[in-house]
Formats: sequence, structure tokens, C-alpha cells
Amino acid sequence: MNPTAVAPSSRAAQLQTRLRAARSSSDELFRVVRPTALYDRPIPERHRIIFYLGHLEAFDWNLLREPLGLSSSDPELDKLFAFGIDPVEAGLPADQPKDWPSVEQVREYDRAVRQRLDSALDTILAKDATLSCLEYGRFLEVAIEHRLMHAETLCYMLHQLPVDRKLAPSLDPPPVAPGRRQRSVEIPAGTAKLGLARSEDGPFGWDNEFEEQHVEVPAFAIDAHNVTNGDYLRFVNDGGYERRNLWSDSGWRWIASQGNRAPAFWIPDSDSWRCRGMFAEIPLPIEWPVYVSHDEASAYARWAGKELPNEAEWHRAAYGTPGGAERSYPWGESAPTARHGNFDFARWDPVAGGSYPEGVSAFGVADLVGNGWEWTRTRFAPFPGFRAFSFYPGYSADFFDGKHFVMKGGSPRTAACLLRRSFRNWFQPHYPYVYAKFRCVEH
Ligand SMILES: [Fe+2]
Repeated sequence: MNPTAVAPSSRAAQLQTRLRAARSSSDELFRVVRPTALYDRPIPERHRIIFYLGHLEAFDWNLLREPLGLSSSDPELDKLFAFGIDPVEAGLPADQPKDWPSVEQVREYDRAVRQRLDSALDTILAKDATLSCLEYGRFLEVAIEHRLMHAETLCYMLHQLPVDRKLAPSLDPPPVAPGRRQRSVEIPAGTAKLGLARSEDGPFGWDNEFEEQHVEVPAFAIDAHNVTNGDYLRFVNDGGYERRNLWSDSGWRWIASQGNRAPAFWIPDSDSWRCRGMFAEIPLPIEWPVYVSHDEASAYARWAGKELPNEAEWHRAAYGTPGGAERSYPWGESAPTARHGNFDFARWDPVAGGSYPEGVSAFGVADLVGNGWEWTRTRFAPFPGFRAFSFYPGYSADFFDGKHFVMKGGSPRTAACLLRRSFRNWFQPHYPYVYAKFRCVEH
């Protein structure tokens, strides 16, 4: 959204509406956790679920408190819930459930934070519709998108929670898949326009989205469809996890240390596999895209005699057109809807590849946005002209360590506003719980 496109008062009202909607999305997530499971730690490297119940409100509070002129009533909880964990090389956390406040205390903290922030926002808006004290609304965009990103990453965590620790909401049947035929799509040489141009009144973007880059991309060929569970099963059955030459040094060390023989979403079932869905374990759906770590995606690509796309190649396949102009989304300029892909919290699991013919790119590449992020072979690094946000200096800069890879697109649990072309996601190469799929390229 371009802030200049609407009057300040209606823009401020839109931000308040979006903040309320983002809160509903995160509240919905905690409702699928059985109350007895709130102190579980589904992923050993991460915090217990209870941390996230406090973190979303603590983040907003720590960000907005000073600019809104408020004083803290619980500095201890503000600090306790301030930061998550990115488990690069540190040991596993050893805290116990008794080290955390009670659910009632956390819920009361959340309620008080929301109430104080909302009433301060109402007061500010009555005096200053431009939200100048909140960097002209940018702080609210940060709060909204931070919450929505957690609404997704928290799902990765809840996905690993045993199904009997969750309460399934009612689920819609999947769309009817028209069937897919894998093929290679030739993308001619051209320019990829990555990132966003910095301007006073331009659209919101995180620090790593700036500045705009024009990258010349030589011709390449890309898979029209994602690699599916069925495709990946052939790699597994061909000894993919036993063949040293398919893996990077660190990838090999990782699968050896974990004893991995298949993706984390697969569950061995005598001589076959089942799949860990969000609310049920089901026979391996061979038409779904396979969710894997970067190391696993890279090993498959090597096995297939191909490689992962780099960020600019992926961007060109998604947003480029034969005429040279770029689109805002693979399907064109219209805002994302349920016809274009599997995203924006509509579903909890992927669907069969090729289910959204209206979402294909100008070059005919399917499912680029939605149904799972897509791994690239590009290491996460700043674009030239990068400047960290002064109020959140570590958001990206803490991860410019050569140990994270860029993902593009979006998953079933990615909010629509995060599907913008310039948005960049990133993860470590062996983190196995991300909703991340892939496709391969050839040169
Ligand atoms: Fe956070």
C-alpha cells in the first residue's frame, strides 16, 4: 500500500484495522493448542509455546511504548518475552515449565498491553492523523508484519506438536487439482528488478528489501512445477541419503548426526511413508510439493543433474514477462485471492501441485507464490544501499552470516501482505521444519 494513495486519517484507520486482523490471526493459532500443551516445546531448539503467547504483545509494546509516551507496568515480562531464538550453533535451551509465568499471568499481560496501546493510539490519532510519532505509521507496519510472520513460523512449531495435543478447526476440502505435467520452461535472458526503491512516501518494506537492484539474468530453464513428495520418494529410494557426493560437507554432517533418511515431514510406516499434516498423519500425498530443508533440496537437485535457482532467476521466472516488463505478482497486477494460490491462512497444509491455473506466471510457471516457500541457492546478504532500521537493527543484519539462504514466494500460512514481490525470507540450510518446497533450474 502506498501511504500517499489515501488520506492520512483513512490510512491510520486501515493500519488499526490491519493490526486487529493480525491479532485475530495470531489468536486463532493459540486456539488450536490444547491448554495442557502450552508449555510444550515441539522443536527442541526453540522456546516453549508459552513464550510466543507473550512475545507478540511484548514486541509491540517494546516497539511502541516510548513513541506513544507510555511507561511500563511490567518491565520483567517486557524483557522475558522480548526475544526468540535462532538456533545457529548454540546448545539447546534447558529452561523448565516452572521457569515461566502462568498462562493467566501471560494472558493478563497481553490484555493490558493491547488495551493500553489501543487507547494511546486512539488518543494520538485524534491529534495527529499522520502518525508522525510512529514514523508516519511505519512502526505499526512493523508490528503488524512481525506478528503475521510469527503467525506463520509458530505454525512450523505447532506442526511438530503431536496431533493429540491440538484442536483441529473445521477444514475446507482441497481445490480440485486439474493435474500437472512436469516440464522445463525456457526463460530468455533479461533483467530482474529486485528490491524496492527507497522513498519518503513509498510502500513499506523491511530493511533487507532496499534498495532496488537491476540484475541481468542469462537465459535458463526452470521446472514448471515444484518437486513433489512422489518425485522426492524416487530420490530417497535411489539411496539419496546414503550418497555422500550429493551433499555439501555441512549437509552431510547434518544428516549423519541426525540419522536422517527422509524429510522431517515424513514418518516411517513399515515399508512406506506417512506424512505429518497439521492435524492428521496421512498416507504420503505424492502430488503435494515436498517440504524439505535447503540441504535436502540441494542434494535432490544434484541427483537430478540440476541446481536450485538463484534469487534473480526465481524472480525472473515469477515476475518477468516475454515483453520485458515485470508484474507485481506472477499472475499479474490484481491483489492475491484464493483463486491464485494456497496462502493467507486459508489452509493448514499444502495441496496438490498445479491446483491454481489462474496463478501461473507469464512464462507458464505454476505455484511460485503460495503452497510453500521456495528455496534459492542465494545466500542471504544485503542489497547495495542496505540500511538497518535504527529501531530494529538486528532484524536482517544478525543473519548476514553466510549461513542462511533466501526463500521466495509464500506458504499456506503466509499473510497476503507478505506476498509482495520484494519480500525476502531466509533460513538456515538444515532447518527441517520450514514450509519450504523447491524446483530446479538448468543452464
Ligand atoms: Fe519476534
